[in-house]
Amino acid sequence: MAASGVVIPGGQWSRRWASIDERLGLSGLAYPVPRHANSIGYILGGISFFGFLILAATGVWLAQFYDPMDATARESVVYIMNVAPLGDVVRGVHFWVANIVMATVLLHLGRIFVTGAYKRPREANWLIGLGLLGVTLGLIFTGTVLKWDQEGYEALGHNVEAGDLLGAIGFWFSGTFTASLPILGRLYMAHIVILPAIGTFLLIAHFLLVKRHGISVLPADADAAVDGGPAPEKRGSTFAAHAVRMAGFGLLMLAIATVLALILPAGLGGRPVPGTETTKPPWMFLPFYPFEDWFGLPALLVVPTIVFGMLALVPFVDRGPYRSPRRRRAFIAAGAVVAIALMGLIVYALVTVPQAHIGGGM
Ligand code: HEM
Repeated sequence: MAASGVVIPGGQWSRRWASIDERLGLSGLAYPVPRHANSIGYILGGISFFGFLILAATGVWLAQFYDPMDATARESVVYIMNVAPLGDVVRGVHFWVANIVMATVLLHLGRIFVTGAYKRPREANWLIGLGLLGVTLGLIFTGTVLKWDQEGYEALGHNVEAGDLLGAIGFWFSGTFTASLPILGRLYMAHIVILPAIGTFLLIAHFLLVKRHGISVLPADADAAVDGGPAPEKRGSTFAAHAVRMAGFGLLMLAIATVLALILPAGLGGRPVPGTETTKPPWMFLPFYPFEDWFGLPALLVVPTIVFGMLALVPFVDRGPYRSPRRRRAFIAAGAVVAIALMGLIVYALVTVPQAHIGGGM
């Protein structure tokens, strides 16, 4: 029924749809995707993407009230929590979705690793994915600094000292890069412009390659094809149905984050006290924290470089034709050892007392 109360015959609806489709090409989204693409393991990347959309929307709202000046940054966060319309909930959703996205990105990486989906021809997309992992970590790091509480201030202290250690190539991270804008202002710009821009560029490349290669077939089917078996059945649903399912999971994430924001609001520590170190970093950085205790600040540059370097080498070392975990036992065992070690380091970092690593002022 049209708004005027006139009944529109079915044929008219299809003509309207055809007219819209002619202009927007929406039916192009109805290309086939295999059935397994709709299983949870294969939809984690899409869930992460929806998380980024929620982060962008909530971030735009927070940016209406946040002030990136040293003297007033923390007070503007207090304003967001107490005065800005829906400020506390939006801030909590931003915080919780960031944590959930970090977890889904890591699980996505784990799924690709276990199913050997980084193998030819997807090596480049694995590397682009690592770039996305770096951007995700960078967004969480800069976001932590923006609060400008004790935790944020200490995070910035590490940022500045790591930049100094890098010498000439670390110039951007230095507090003396420019006298015209304090470093907090530049990290804010990194959080809302530089990192989102790099992330968007990488996401577009990532999605174009997923479209180009198609989602990888199930490992058992891939191995059967290597052994001369029949080609697997490709059709399952359409991409449009797959996207609706992704959006459903995205909304579920939003609902969970909203409940968490209401019962466990995002915290804010006290005003920073220069020269003291009393906090620990967010959980995704904790695996590196014990190394800083043992070997000092340079470990913060060396250990993540080693971890990212090892991950980057994965597709070029595991070059065998098979993808099933049981036919890649050595690789799966190595991955499990690294994953367990990282989790063990998180637990260790949680139970240790914070130590002083940085020199003090900035
Ligand atoms: C930061 C956020 C990321 C987003 C939003 C994202 C998104 C996606 C999406 C939507 C897909 C399609 C299938 C699926 O969901 O599993 C995909 C596939 C893929 N991603 Fe990611 N990804 C991200 C990070 C990563 C990381 C960290 C890696 C690995 C280092 C990676 C490597 C890959 C590879 C190799 C594929 C092809 C998998 C296949 O064909 O089975 N991605 N990604």
